[in-house]
Amino acid sequence: MGTYDYKNVKVEIRDGIAWVILNRPEKRNAMSPKLHFEMDDALERLEFDDEAKVIVITGAGGNFSAGQDLKEFFRELDTNPSARRKAAQAANRWRWERLYNYDKPTIAMIHGYCVGGAFMQLLATDFAVAAEDATFSLSEVNWGILPGALVAKVVADAVLPRHALYYACLGEPFDGKEAARIGMVNFAVPLAKLEQATTELAHKLMKKSPNTLRATKQAVRHVRNMDFGQAYDYLMEKSKAIKLGDREDSYNTGLRQFLDEKSYKPTYEPFRLRGDKAGASAEKK
Ligand code: COA
Repeated sequence: MGTYDYKNVKVEIRDGIAWVILNRPEKRNAMSPKLHFEMDDALERLEFDDEAKVIVITGAGGNFSAGQDLKEFFRELDTNPSARRKAAQAANRWRWERLYNYDKPTIAMIHGYCVGGAFMQLLATDFAVAAEDATFSLSEVNWGILPGALVAKVVADAVLPRHALYYACLGEPFDGKEAARIGMVNFAVPLAKLEQATTELAHKLMKKSPNTLRATKQAVRHVRNMDFGQAYDYLMEKSKAIKLGDREDSYNTGLRQFLDEKSYKPTYEPFRLRGDKAGASAEKK
């Protein structure tokens, strides 16, 4: 494992989970240009760090993030267009290009405040788990600005139009239970169980074949913008591609464990990977 030595971001890798923590608790993890540069670097490196199997994005000090730093990202760069552009590029790169296309599964873990620009990373991750008492707010309308970068787009993509319009136009806060009800997060749990629930989800993901999981998430994301003919063709070719690069030989291993060994039911559980103890002993049979 390399060292991830940053000031505004903390990275802790434990049992295959990389906890990537926005670390400006005294500013409610508002995202300054420096934080964006560090997050961009950390995510680039973690994608190739074999110890990191699942990425969890969260915030230090009991909050997810209060959005873009209104002082350091906005006001101080209003008169410095090239510095603003550089910061905006890094901000969009990690919050969108990297996370949306990430090779590994990603989870947002939301507690405390999740405001404005923080919806970008919330919705670019593959999964999100919230504390029931978290506070979400698309506050931009209250500042006289738009949910910019890609916030309006990711919100419109994630939830039904009425919910998107309601919360973007009113800027009203909502809690984790409401976020789950409208589809902004997968589920909400009491704060005391948040880390445990996130860890359980990460462990479930780690039991899948990484290759199949990667292709599945890419497929689900990409077919949204295709018509039926394009989606059919793309999925057929993608299916061939995952077989080619599949080190677990998922298809044949799954068939063998289900049909021959009768040791697994795909409806309820993943097949055993070669690295698993159970999988390794099955391989020897
Ligand atoms: N940008 C810059 N600084 C921010 C910030 C932001 N988005 N959000 C919080 N801070 C700073 C505050 O200025 C304050 O700094 P100070 O200690 O130097 O005065 C510190 O973080 C703590 O904020 P405070 O408002 O005292 O904390 P709180 O817990 O009472 O309230 C929030 C938290 C998130 C409700 C409140 O800070 C807030 O509304 N922030 C703005 C969020 C927003 O609209 N973001 C959208 C940007 S696109």
